[in-house]
Amino acid sequence: MSVKEENKNPAETAVKEKKQIAAKLIPIYIMGKRYEVPEGLTIMKAMEYAGYKFIRGCGCRGGTCGACGTVYRKPGDYKLQVALACQKTVEPDMYMAQIPFFPANRAQYEFADLTSAPEEVFKLYPELFRCVACNACTKACPQGIEVMDAIAALKQGNIAEAARLSFDCIQCGLCTSRCFGELAQYHMFQLARRIYGAKILPRAEHLAEMVGTINEGRYDQILDELKHVKEDELKKLYQEREAEPMAAGEDWKPKDTRYL
Ligand code: FES
Repeated sequence: MSVKEENKNPAETAVKEKKQIAAKLIPIYIMGKRYEVPEGLTIMKAMEYAGYKFIRGCGCRGGTCGACGTVYRKPGDYKLQVALACQKTVEPDMYMAQIPFFPANRAQYEFADLTSAPEEVFKLYPELFRCVACNACTKACPQGIEVMDAIAALKQGNIAEAARLSFDCIQCGLCTSRCFGELAQYHMFQLARRIYGAKILPRAEHLAEMVGTINEGRYDQILDELKHVKEDELKKLYQEREAEPMAAGEDWKPKDTRYL
């Protein structure tokens, strides 16, 4: 059997093709320099494949910390796109750069001294009223937040609505990088969510009760026992614990009521 014939073995050919597919490389441009990287990688992994080492601009790798804001453009397209490097997969001929930090204005305040009055936000961020409602911030948000609407809510003094609309904000700063009025929307929203959570939402009474119970030492003994359990046994206890069912009603109680 010749070498050529051997290569016609369907099993071997399939393996070879699979390897070729797995190794298919596509061109991308990182800060203007061309690299070839395997398709299917996230921008972050592609940059690492190309030799970059992340010492900043990378945190959770899971789309929640906002450290990896990235801008990119495709050939022949005027539009500047935004993405999180840890989430977006590379596309052929992308031109990209990361904006891991944006030097936006962040107001200084003693949170305990603030009230829930909208004027607190106006005083700390007077530039809020520089918003010209161009909506560039919304278009730049990789989280799909209606950024301009949340800013409009803040201007109207509706802190609760601004907090609700901006709930998915991960502080990447891409909105600010595109803002005509030079607003630091993400810092303003963080203040709104803090005020809403601490000074507008009613206190959870059951939580205060539970904290009191913990402080009284009700769980000290069991916690102490658990600290001395071996890791395997601890995992077993955790896996076999009685968990609250997804569709449990308000009156659900575990069978073991010793720790209620
Ligand atoms: S690394 Fe945290 S959002 Fe991308």
